Amino acid sequence: MLLLVLLLTACLFGEGHALTNIKLTFHGTNGQAPDACGPHGVCDCAFYMDFNDIYCKGIDIYEVPRNIPANATFLYIIETAITEIPVEAFWNLTHLEELNLERNKITIIPEQAFFNLTLLKLLDLKRNMINVLSPEVFSRLTSLTKLRLEGNQLKALHCNLFSKLTNLKSLYLNDNMIAALPHNIFWNLYQLERLYIFNNYLTTLPGDLLRNLTSLILLDASFNKVNTLPSSVFFNLVWMDNLDLSGNQLEILPENIFADLIRLSYLDLSNNQITILPEKLLWNLSSLTQIALYHNNIEIIPENLFCNIPQLDQVDFDENEIKAVPRVLFLGITVGSLGFSGNKISSLPQDIFENTPVTEALDFADNQLTEVPAAIIKPNRTRLTITMLFLQSNRLTAINSGSFDKLINLKIVYVYLFP
Ligand SMILES: *[C@@H]1O[C@H](CO)[C@@H](O)[C@H](O)[C@H]1NC(C)=O
Ligand SMILES: *[C@@H]1O[C@H](CO)[C@@H](O)[C@H](O)[C@H]1NC(C)=O
Ligand SMILES: *[C@@H]1O[C@H](CO)[C@@H](O)[C@H](O)[C@H]1NC(C)=O
Ligand SMILES: *[C@@H]1O[C@H](CO)[C@@H](O)[C@H](O)[C@H]1NC(C)=O
Ligand SMILES: *[C@@H]1O[C@H](CO)[C@@H](O)[C@H](O)[C@H]1NC(C)=O
Ligand SMILES: *[C@@H]1O[C@H](CO)[C@@H](O)[C@H](O)[C@H]1NC(C)=O
Repeated sequence: MLLLVLLLTACLFGEGHALTNIKLTFHGTNGQAPDACGPHGVCDCAFYMDFNDIYCKGIDIYEVPRNIPANATFLYIIETAITEIPVEAFWNLTHLEELNLERNKITIIPEQAFFNLTLLKLLDLKRNMINVLSPEVFSRLTSLTKLRLEGNQLKALHCNLFSKLTNLKSLYLNDNMIAALPHNIFWNLYQLERLYIFNNYLTTLPGDLLRNLTSLILLDASFNKVNTLPSSVFFNLVWMDNLDLSGNQLEILPENIFADLIRLSYLDLSNNQITILPEKLLWNLSSLTQIALYHNNIEIIPENLFCNIPQLDQVDFDENEIKAVPRVLFLGITVGSLGFSGNKISSLPQDIFENTPVTEALDFADNQLTEVPAAIIKPNRTRLTITMLFLQSNRLTAINSGSFDKLINLKIVYVYLFP
């Protein structure tokens, strides 16, 4: 849990609010949009040989500025009060490589608005109020590698919306209200490496949704309402490194669902309602190094669960209903830190760590231990080189002096005795 706390703090700092730098700008005269550059321009315009950067920002800009130089390569119109994009606003900008329209108040985008932007690599529309996208709106953006649509109000997407984006590598659809994805919506995205669909209302993923995404490295589908997954949904994804399914409503997973994920290193199944882990669930995941299963309803861990995994840096079973840890669960595996806090464990098999070097931390806090397990402190268990041990909130009544003497690297122990 300590590691988690640190992570959370890092996130909070990362999201730190930038000081808002509101530039005073002029409204255009005669009801016209203001000029982009020039003496009355509302944007910062910087011209170099092959780098023309137009930066327009401010809540007092209500319309897309006029006369944006046709040689612009980077155009930012961000944090303005703009609600509409005139259909021809970007038609002259055939050199554009990045168009960033994040954090405006855009609700609808005309179907032809991006039609001439064939060199565009990045299109950022995040945090607007877009609730519908017409099927052809991205159809000419054949150079696009990154598309950001997160933080809008999208409820449904047309099956052809992305069908021409054959160079796309990253797609952000998170933080919308999408309840279902058409099964063929991603079929042409052969280059896609990163797909973010977290924080939507998805209840399942179609079995062939990801079929052609053979380049996929990361899928974040966390915090939806997924309660079932077809066994074929991750088939073919042999380059997948990072899979996040946390914060859903999964109870049972098909035994072969991860069978092709031979390069997966990070798997997050935390915050679901998983009761049973099929014995062979992780059998082909020989690259797995981190697995999060905390906050589920797991009672029993199959003893061969980690059978083909040589090294696990982080294993987290916190907050489940586990009463016993199988004797051979970690046999022959090198483990970094191991979390079992918030379960119902009253004892550990004596030799559970005998052939298991655990190198960082053991967390058995908040269980039903009545004594410090021999498996942790007995003389022959010196393969434990942990620096942290968590045993608080158990039923320990006494600890002998010298109990932890064999744990030569130990720096921190959390224990308090039962009164
Ligand atoms: C780009 O257009 C602007 C405004 O029209 C001009 O000042 C600048 O010299 C042009 N840059 C190049 C490299 O052509
Ligand atoms: C595009 O270029 C044409 C020709 O220079 C010009 O008449 C028109 O106003 C430009 N459109 C925009 C939206 O700037
Ligand atoms: C941009 O696209 C529109 C609509 O397809 C077209 O009418 C216009 O001529 C194009 N402009 C340029 C500069 O390519
Ligand atoms: C992509 O998936 C569809 C549906 O399975 C299939 O018809 C198509 O041939 C696939 N494309 C490739 C290149 O595999
Ligand atoms: C593991 O992969 C092999 C081939 O690489 C496959 O035949 C087998 O079905 C997979 N096993 C499981 C349990 O998924
Ligand atoms: C430690 O292990 C050795 C060899 O496996 C065994 O002979 C010895 O009795 C063990 N000692 C304790 C205290 O368990």
